[in-house]
Amino acid sequence: MRILSGLQPSGRLHLGNYFGMMEPALRLQHEGEAFYFIADYHSLTSIHDPAALRSHSLDLALDFLACGLDPVKAVFFRQSDVPEVCELSWILSTVTPMGLLERCHSYKDKTARGMEATHGLFAYPVLMAADILIYDSQVVPVGKDQKQHVEVTRDIAKTLNHTYGDILKIPEPRIREETAVVPGTDGQKMSKSYGNILAIFEEEKALKKKVMSIQTDSTPVEEPKDPENSLILTLYRLVADADAVALMENQFRSGGTGYGDFKKRLFEAIWTKFEEPRRRRAELVADPAYVQKVLRDGAERARAVARPTLDRVRKAVGLA
Ligand code: ADP
Ligand code: TRP
Repeated sequence: MRILSGLQPSGRLHLGNYFGMMEPALRLQHEGEAFYFIADYHSLTSIHDPAALRSHSLDLALDFLACGLDPVKAVFFRQSDVPEVCELSWILSTVTPMGLLERCHSYKDKTARGMEATHGLFAYPVLMAADILIYDSQVVPVGKDQKQHVEVTRDIAKTLNHTYGDILKIPEPRIREETAVVPGTDGQKMSKSYGNILAIFEEEKALKKKVMSIQTDSTPVEEPKDPENSLILTLYRLVADADAVALMENQFRSGGTGYGDFKKRLFEAIWTKFEEPRRRRAELVADPAYVQKVLRDGAERARAVARPTLDRVRKAVGLA
């Protein structure tokens, strides 16, 4: 089984990215041949500061490795180290109906939030399709908001196959339903663009402050609280063990404990959960040559798969 996924290097890794995409993807690296990459071409649609793009890319490489990506098992690389993907993207774009892209939520959402309506932003799903198809990927673990892009990929691949013969594999999205949407500190979907994130590798004091700012209702300390609709408990269930969760649920029901205490416990659970990755990340920061070598080797392995696919497509469409 060939598994592929990518993350944009556009800011700090947060609990939504981790539980929605990274952790499920890291689990899958033991079940098949995984290709994971840093989607830096995609980030050019939002970052026009070269130093920032470089530093975010390095940060994301550190994040992936610290969280458990095994660069021997998985092929780990920077998207832009395999420029073949841009050529495939162009070929795919020649069979992609405008209407398919016009229906994509992500372009509409991003421009509604004030992002510049560039051609790159509009054509973003075609590049993503090329990412997936050039590695003959079968399974694509992503968060729920990327599901539509994988469906677009399937449509584009089917159209190319219909036009030129059976040349591309049809991939499937893999969405983990329990963590399809992780809420942020304000209850909306956790997202960099909403300023409501809990970043995994945040400084201790800053993270604590963010956790303490989680929105709650105004139920007084002594009164029972609703464990089903609590943001604190939704997040706590992701990071704490079952006994600790059961205890907090009981204390919600019985009353007598304030939200402040629950938030402190949530902070401790987040901090403990990422203790080991934090330690590994600090080691990796001290060894930049190792990280560069991992990415170089990954690029070489990725290119060895991408090149033959591109050649197959070039030949099929009449370019070779
Ligand atoms: P952001 O919204 O912070 O910009 P991205 O769009 O870069 O995050 O998302 C990267 C990956 O993480 C995608 O696969 C996406 O589906 C997943 N993801 C992001 N936020 C969440 C969330 N709040 N809950 C679940 N998955 C998420
Ligand atoms: N669009 C994805 C995101 O914003 C990143 C991405 C780019 C991706 N190419 C991909 C994800 C291919 C999965 C497969 O998170």
